[in-house]
Amino acid sequence: MDIREDNGEGIDSWKEVTLIYNAALKQIETRMEILNEEFQHVHQYNPIEHIKARIKTPESIVKKLKRNGYESTIDNMVKHVNDIAGIRVICSFTSDIYRIADMISEQRDLQVLTVKDYITFPKTSGYKSYHMIITVPVYLSDRTVDAKVEIQIRTVAMDFWASLEHKIHYKLEGDAPEHIRSELVECAKMVTDLDARMLKLNEELLILSREREKE
Ligand code: GTP
Ligand code: MG
Repeated sequence: MDIREDNGEGIDSWKEVTLIYNAALKQIETRMEILNEEFQHVHQYNPIEHIKARIKTPESIVKKLKRNGYESTIDNMVKHVNDIAGIRVICSFTSDIYRIADMISEQRDLQVLTVKDYITFPKTSGYKSYHMIITVPVYLSDRTVDAKVEIQIRTVAMDFWASLEHKIHYKLEGDAPEHIRSELVECAKMVTDLDARMLKLNEELLILSREREKE
C-alpha cells in the first residue's frame, strides 16, 4: 500500500487519520449508548438492539479511492471517503430508526452532511437502511478537527438481509444469477412485511400493558 502524505484539512499523516477517526467513532458509539440508556430510563424501553463500529482498512480505503479515480493521498481520503469511520445501529422497529436519526440531528455539535433514506426509498436490490454522514468535532491538544462518520441505522431484519446480500455480492463478485437476485428481492419484501407486522404487534402490546397497569 502506498499512501502519499500531504495536508488534508489539518490531517497530515496516516497515523493521524487512524487516531482522529478512531476518536470520532468512539464518541459516536458512546453517544448512541447514552441515548439508549436515557431512553430506557424515560420510556422503559431500549430502541437500540446493538451497535457495530469499524474503521475502514487502509487497503479498502485505497481501493475505494482508485475506484473513484483518486490518487491515494491523505487529502483525498479525508475529502472523498465518507466511511473511514462507520457505525451501524441495529434497532428492533422501523419507528426506532427515525427516532434515533432525529436524536442524532438534534445534537448541537454534530453536523449532518447527508442523509439517504433507503427505507422510504429502498434500492432496486431490495436494500433498506437509513444512512447519515455526519461530522463530530475531535479535540486534539492544539486544534479541533471535524471528522466524518457514516451512520447506518436499520432493523434486525434489514441487517439480516443486508449481511446475506453482501456475502452473496462479495462471493459472486457482483454477478449473481438472476434467480438469486429475484429471490433476494422477494426476501426483502418479506423483511418489509415482517418489520411492519412486528411493529404493529409491539404497538398493541404497549396499549394492552398500559390498560392492564390501570386496572
Ligand atoms: P459506497 O457504497 O460506500 O461506495 O457508498 P455510496 O456513495 O454508494 O453510498 P451508499 O449510502 O449507497 O452506501 C454506503 C454503504 O451502504 C455501503 O458501503 C454498504 O455498507 C451499504 N450498502 C449500500 N447499498 C447496499 C446494498 O445494496 N447491499 C448491501 N448489503 N449493503 C449496501
Ligand atoms: Mg461503504
